Amino acid sequence: MADRHKSLSKPDVVVVGGGVVGLSTAWQLIKEGVEAVVVDPQPGAGASHAAAGMLAPIHEAYWGESHILGLNLAASQAWPVFAEQLGVDAVDYCRNGMLMAAYDVDDKALLDNLSDLHAQEGLPVERLRSRECRSREPLLAPGVRGGVYSPLDHHVNPRRVVAELLRRVPAVAIPAAEVSQNRVMLEDGQTMSCQQVVVAAGAWTGRLLGVPVRPVKGQILRLSGPEGLLRLPVRGVVRGSSVYAVPRSDGEIVVGATVEEQGFDTRVTAGGVYELLRAVLSLLPGLSEIDLVETWAGLRPGTPDNAPIIGTGADGIVYAAGHYRNGILTAPITAAAVAALVQGRRPPVDLSPFSPDRFAAAPTGRLPEAKPLSGVPG
Ligand code: GLY
Repeated sequence: MADRHKSLSKPDVVVVGGGVVGLSTAWQLIKEGVEAVVVDPQPGAGASHAAAGMLAPIHEAYWGESHILGLNLAASQAWPVFAEQLGVDAVDYCRNGMLMAAYDVDDKALLDNLSDLHAQEGLPVERLRSRECRSREPLLAPGVRGGVYSPLDHHVNPRRVVAELLRRVPAVAIPAAEVSQNRVMLEDGQTMSCQQVVVAAGAWTGRLLGVPVRPVKGQILRLSGPEGLLRLPVRGVVRGSSVYAVPRSDGEIVVGATVEEQGFDTRVTAGGVYELLRAVLSLLPGLSEIDLVETWAGLRPGTPDNAPIIGTGADGIVYAAGHYRNGILTAPITAAAVAALVQGRRPPVDLSPFSPDRFAAAPTGRLPEAKPLSGVPG
C-alpha cells in the first residue's frame, strides 16, 4: 500500500462516503496503486450497518428494471473473488441460494407472476410446491403455498465486510461540507486537494450535490438462536407484504425490512417492528422462541428510477451513489467501474443507464416521482 501518512495529507483520490460502496471503491483504487482516502464521520454506520446482506440479483429483479438486472448479475459474478480477497469466512459469504415463499393464494399468484418475469429474462429459478419448500427450509409454516428457489442469490454479513474494508482503507472521520472535482472542504475548515473526488455518500449524496438521491427508510430486526436454525435466506410474500429473514453462520437472523418515505428519520417504531414480526412469524413460526437482540433503522439511497448513479458528472465529480436496495451486491462492480473511470480506462460494465446527468431535466427543487415498487419489495 502507498505511504499512509502521505496518502492522508494529499491523496490521489478522496472518496466521500465510507459505506460499503465508498470503502470498496477506495480499496480497489489502493489495490491498483492509487492513493485513496475515505472521508466519513462514521464509516460503515449508515445503510451498510442496517443491511441484511442479500446478494440477490434474481429475487431483486422486478418488472421494467432489466437495465439494473444486467448490473446486478455482473455484480454477483464479481462477488466470489471480492469475498475471497477479504476472507470468505471473515465476511460470512454464503452461496447456498435463496428461497422466496408465498404465504397465501394471492401471494402465490404474485409470486407466479414474478417467476414468469424470471423465466422471460432467462434467469435460473426453480418453482417449488409447498412440500418442496419445506424440505429445503423446514422452518417454513406448513400452510405456505409454494415458492421459488434461486441458486444464484447468495448472502454475506455487511458489518463484517465493512470491518474488513476498514482494516485496508485509510479514513478521515470528519464530515465533508463541500466538494468539487479536485477538492473536499471538511466541516472543520480543512481542505483536502486531490486529482479526483469520488462521491459515494449514500442517502446524503442529494444534500451534498443536489442530485435526486433520497433516503428510503428500512427498519430491521436481529434475532439470535441456535446455529443452523434457519438453513436458507427466505424472502416471503405474506398477505401482500414483503419480509425477509437472512441467517448468519453464528445463529443470528436478520429480519427486514420496512420501505418508508420518511426523509432522514431513523427512529424505530412500534408499528414497524410489529409489521415485521407479524409477517416473519406467519412465515417462520419457529422464530418466535428465539431472542430479539436488536432493532435498527437505516436509510437506503433511492433514485427516481431505482437505478444507481455511477459515472463522471458534468461537474467533473465521479459519482458512486444511489444504490438503493443493492449497495452490498453492487459494491465490488461499482468499485471496479469507478477505479477504471478514475484512471481513464473503459469500465467493466456499460454505465450509460447510470449516468449522473440523466436527471438533469428534472425541475430544480422538486424531485421526480419515485417509481412505485411492484408489490414484492424485499
Ligand atoms: N436489499 C434489501 C432491502 O433494501 O431491504
